[in-house]
Amino acid sequence: MAEDWSARQYLKFEDERTRPPRDLLAQVPLKSARRVIDLGCGPGNSTELLLQRFPQAQVIGVDSSPDMLRQARERLPNCEFAHADLADWSPPERTDLLFGNAVFQWVPDHPAVLRRLLAALPAGGVLAVQMPDNTEEPALALMPDVAASGPWAPQLALAAAARDDLPTPAAYYDLLKPLSARLEIWHTAYNHVMAGPEAIVEWFKGSGLRPFLSPLDETMRRGFLAEYTARIVRAYPPRHDGRVLLRFPRLFIVAVR
Ligand SMILES: C[S@@+](CC[C@H](N)C(=O)[O-])C[C@H]1O[C@@H](n2cnc3c(N)ncnc32)[C@H](O)[C@@H]1O
Repeated sequence: MAEDWSARQYLKFEDERTRPPRDLLAQVPLKSARRVIDLGCGPGNSTELLLQRFPQAQVIGVDSSPDMLRQARERLPNCEFAHADLADWSPPERTDLLFGNAVFQWVPDHPAVLRRLLAALPAGGVLAVQMPDNTEEPALALMPDVAASGPWAPQLALAAAARDDLPTPAAYYDLLKPLSARLEIWHTAYNHVMAGPEAIVEWFKGSGLRPFLSPLDETMRRGFLAEYTARIVRAYPPRHDGRVLLRFPRLFIVAVR
């Protein structure tokens, strides 16, 4: 990624963001593991889950963001972390689990990368992946709409094209099943309870809004966020207690080599 991730912004919603990796890990059919790798480990929240589940394993976190890695090393000083881009990274020998929570949606041509990583695992090794499948939700769909309708439009043409819809479960099945002894694919739609619509904007400032905000100067950024927030307020009406529900569908894949 051209711009660095902000660990601080990402961790504002740590509880909500750590629920999907908990749900993914619960479906990993391994009793023990020799080596476990957290792909796109971010600030170490998912890595910590892996350490708890596999206390005897060597757990390694891999990420392309120096800020995230710094935060992860502070949080888990006894764990190993490595700087790498998953586009051209391969697992070391004796890796029993590749765990990628909320990362592959950012990796170009990620289906081919998933296939390559699964092929590199030993028999019985597991590739476990979760990706947001939310491009149809208002919070995501409004981003390219706002990008195309303001003075920032010329600067954001590339960003608007950046995140594609995920392939269908059937496409992942056809791609990964020939390499899998067992393959599970499912969706879970979370309904995160947020303090208000502004909290939705804060949430996506730590992820999906980043490609739209980073090309803009401070004035343009403020304008973009004001317009996006106004549209979020309309799209997410308050519940009886003033809170709003952020619907968030996610796709899960667990492949056993
Ligand atoms: C949404 S965070 C997920 C963090 C953590 N895994 C979790 O479960 O909350 C995505 C992480 O993927 C990393 N990332 C994005 N593209 C990457 C790439 N091509 N190679 C390695 N890491 C990448 C980002 O730096 C970021 O830390």
